[in-house]
Amino acid sequence: MVRLDKFLVDAGIGTRSEVKKYIKKKQVKVNGSSNVSPEQKIDEEKDSVCYLGEEISYEKYAYYLFHKPAGCVTAKTDKTERTVMDYFPEQMRRKFSPVGRLDKDTEGLLIITNDGAFHHRLVSPAYHVPKTYEAVLDKPVPAEAVTLFQEGVDIGDEKKTLPAELTIFPPEDKDGKEQCRAQLVITEGRYHQVKRMFLAVGCTVTYLKRVSIGSLSLQNLPKGEYRRLTEQEVEDLRKISSEKKSI
Ligand code: URA
Repeated sequence: MVRLDKFLVDAGIGTRSEVKKYIKKKQVKVNGSSNVSPEQKIDEEKDSVCYLGEEISYEKYAYYLFHKPAGCVTAKTDKTERTVMDYFPEQMRRKFSPVGRLDKDTEGLLIITNDGAFHHRLVSPAYHVPKTYEAVLDKPVPAEAVTLFQEGVDIGDEKKTLPAELTIFPPEDKDGKEQCRAQLVITEGRYHQVKRMFLAVGCTVTYLKRVSIGSLSLQNLPKGEYRRLTEQEVEDLRKISSEKKSI
């Protein structure tokens, strides 16, 4: 059971004060009646709640896939910078958080949710969820980096990195200049990890994009846009993050 005003806020209809106004204006009906109060208890399984004639389904948790553009910070709020949450409606910003962190200049896949347990499992190194990054480097990555990354590399932390899978692509011609690209799959999320790993083999990352987490990828979601994850996608992410590995 949940209060009607909380039910409406959680469903993304508005802030607590906004939904109270909607209730007062009789725009909300419970089981066909608009004679309702904000504190009235709703049975999420049985009661039918409508706002402006449309039935609202109650979901405690929601999961979004966001294509982060460069130039915004991965935070809920920031005094000076645009944050990833600024791309979402106002009423979501308090309850939802980005899962893990992408640097301000990094683009790509970011999950946004209000499910704390799910969040924890995806970011915890104990669960080894693979995250795939595409990087452009200032110079060719030495071939030995493949084995080095596989064995774990010293990036100045207490421990070496966990085994990571590096693929080096042949250099491409881009506007008359050689572009060096690589793909890296890591299962941790240390601070600036990808950049520091490449730096350990003498390369500076000039562009970075996260393209997938587990089997979830951006596909053709445009930059700066988001969409709800399907039940299957959430289920798949739960599955890959459900087995605790020994580190
Ligand atoms: N590793 C980095 O160095 N930066 C990111 O944004 C993500 C992973």
